[in-house]
Amino acid sequence: MSVENSIQAIENSATELIGRTNSLVDLEAVKIQYLGKNGIVTQQLKRISSLPAEERKGFGQAVNHTKIQISERIRERHECLEKISLNQQFSDQSIDVTLPGRVKTLGTIHPISRTLRRMEQIFDRLGFHAVEGPEIENDYYNFEALNISANHPARAMHDTFYIDDHVLLRTHTSPVQVRFMQAHEPPIRIIAPGKVFRCDSDVTHTPMFHQLEGLSVDLDVTFADLKGVIIHFIHEFFEAEPKVRFRSSYFPFTEPSAEVDMGCVFCGGKGCRICKHTGWIEVLGCGMVHPEVLKHGKIDPSQYSGYAFGLGIERFTMLRYGVSDLRYFFNSELSFLRQF
Ligand code: DAH
Repeated sequence: MSVENSIQAIENSATELIGRTNSLVDLEAVKIQYLGKNGIVTQQLKRISSLPAEERKGFGQAVNHTKIQISERIRERHECLEKISLNQQFSDQSIDVTLPGRVKTLGTIHPISRTLRRMEQIFDRLGFHAVEGPEIENDYYNFEALNISANHPARAMHDTFYIDDHVLLRTHTSPVQVRFMQAHEPPIRIIAPGKVFRCDSDVTHTPMFHQLEGLSVDLDVTFADLKGVIIHFIHEFFEAEPKVRFRSSYFPFTEPSAEVDMGCVFCGGKGCRICKHTGWIEVLGCGMVHPEVLKHGKIDPSQYSGYAFGLGIERFTMLRYGVSDLRYFFNSELSFLRQF
């Protein structure tokens, strides 16, 4: 092979290798292989001094030409690979602005909270202020102060969760009555909504549920005031005017006591499955605050009188929205909750 041919062969093989590189790292390796300190082209240049004088010029020019050619190919390839990598980067990071956006689903207010807000608004217009009491109570406020002494049979009906002999999870919101009376002078007009707990669980009972307590204490408060407030509340809440009746009953903390029934909102009182064919639905308990309870609240029963009532928030929610199963409120099923 002539000298020119062998140098041309070096150029050809370098050009081919350069064309096959896929990364700047590969390209750098080829550059070192040919043009580095001990590279193939560099070695050819070193040979010049050992050649006969008349060959040196031609050989030198040929090698230099090849060196320039290879450098040029490397430069071109470098530019090309950089462009490829930039394009790759662009396409990796590109955003298709025509894609539909992600839908943010909006939460809804839990039906129990909704009912509670509704009740608070109605009572607020009647001058009742909403207050809270502790969910962890003691025996005194949950029972004793409400005229339910240690051996009272009513205790057995409460299915209490005890924490120790004296501390328990409140079984009703009634203890807030006494706490509030002890801290405030009449006139008192409060509602106390909140969670209550009973060791009971079946289709119609959950271990935690919500009640709303009402209390009004002032001079000359009578059963007629209680009746007026309850009837007004039921009509406002259901946005209808079902019949309301007060049926004589018993609670240790009220005397006299009554349970309140309203005409069935589902059948208009004709009788259906929901009212168990009686035409009536029981909705709450109430009565005139027992003198003993007023005394526990540091209020003189010879001077003041009051009424109280207690209702189940789940029950009112079921009746208003036609929810058939109590458990829907607690199993966090979105398809149910989104309806409200
Ligand atoms: N605390 C009663 C219960 O949980 C409900 C109740 C009845 C509250 C009569 C009252 C009332 O304030 O006067 O079953």
